[in-house]
Amino acid sequence: MKNISVIGSGTMGNGIAHTFAQFGYKVSLIDVNEIALEKAIQTITKNLDRQIAKGSISENQKADALNNITNFTNVKEGVKNADLVVEAATENVDLKLSIFREIDSSAPADAILASNTSSISITKIASVTNRGDKVVGMHFMNPVPVMKLVEVIRGYQTSDETTKTIMQLAASLEKVPVEVNDYPGFVANRILMPMINEAIYTLYENVAGVYEIDTVMKLGMSHPMGPLQLADFIGLDVCLAILKVMQDGFGNPKYAPCPLLVNMVMAGKKGVKSGEGFYKYTAGSKELVVSEKFA
Ligand SMILES: NC(=O)c1ccc[n+]([C@@H]2O[C@H](COP(=O)([O-])OP(=O)(O)OC[C@H]3O[C@@H](n4cnc5c(N)ncnc54)[C@H](O)[C@@H]3O)[C@@H](O)[C@H]2O)c1
Repeated sequence: MKNISVIGSGTMGNGIAHTFAQFGYKVSLIDVNEIALEKAIQTITKNLDRQIAKGSISENQKADALNNITNFTNVKEGVKNADLVVEAATENVDLKLSIFREIDSSAPADAILASNTSSISITKIASVTNRGDKVVGMHFMNPVPVMKLVEVIRGYQTSDETTKTIMQLAASLEKVPVEVNDYPGFVANRILMPMINEAIYTLYENVAGVYEIDTVMKLGMSHPMGPLQLADFIGLDVCLAILKVMQDGFGNPKYAPCPLLVNMVMAGKKGVKSGEGFYKYTAGSKELVVSEKFA
């Protein structure tokens, strides 16, 4: 594996491109939005500088990593020499299905097609291609250059060979790959999202406030951040979407999203990205301030 095409240059796509480029792979970074591509290169440069400041890479390694990345706005062009395509575009089923139809017809016949989706079925994505055995989930965690885990998700048709190749590839990036089967939420979100949803119910039912709930989980369970703060970081819209996929996929009401989460998303309170969720975020401030709504 030499040539990796990454589709989507947002939060995850730029981190995935950064990581592959840092470990010597040639990366074609593809986004339909030219501004997103420019922003991605700025973010990657800033994050490589941070690694230099920490002493984990040299100036030369930074230059090599940046040289390994080429930007594309055309998907067909960007995947035509790929050994592996990692799709990290917006979490939307119809969008992902149309991207996979396109890359199945444009990428080399032996290329592996992976998705970084948080919740969409790999089996469903594979069903629109003519190479179901070569479609797999490669679920990186945010921030990608820092987080060690990669969930490798086997769709119904994913072959042993594809799984093995992706496990080895993840290890070559100094990540720890874990193989899981394709059921809603995979493992990470199947366990995390009900915990976050329960924390929101605990607030909704007035058992305790935002500060108290997060403090119990931080100091009582040694979690690095509380579930409500984590939900703000992930994005409340993303949490809602994943819970709905699990509710629909299992047909089990235990995954039903808390009405407070639904209301907050409808009101545009999506967490860090919108400036307010359970906490209020002011640019440049590191102080954690509970939103007035819950104070
Ligand atoms: N944010 C997280 O913490 C996280 C963690 C793990 C997995 N994921 C998954 O990773 C994927 C990307 O999430 P994100 O947070 O980086 O989203 P994002 O919104 O930051 O970035 C998505 C990018 O995809 C681009 N895009 C949209 N349609 C495209 C197309 N047809 N072709 C090429 N590019 C296109 C957009 O312009 C945007 O730049 C999603 O599937 C998400 O579920 C996200």
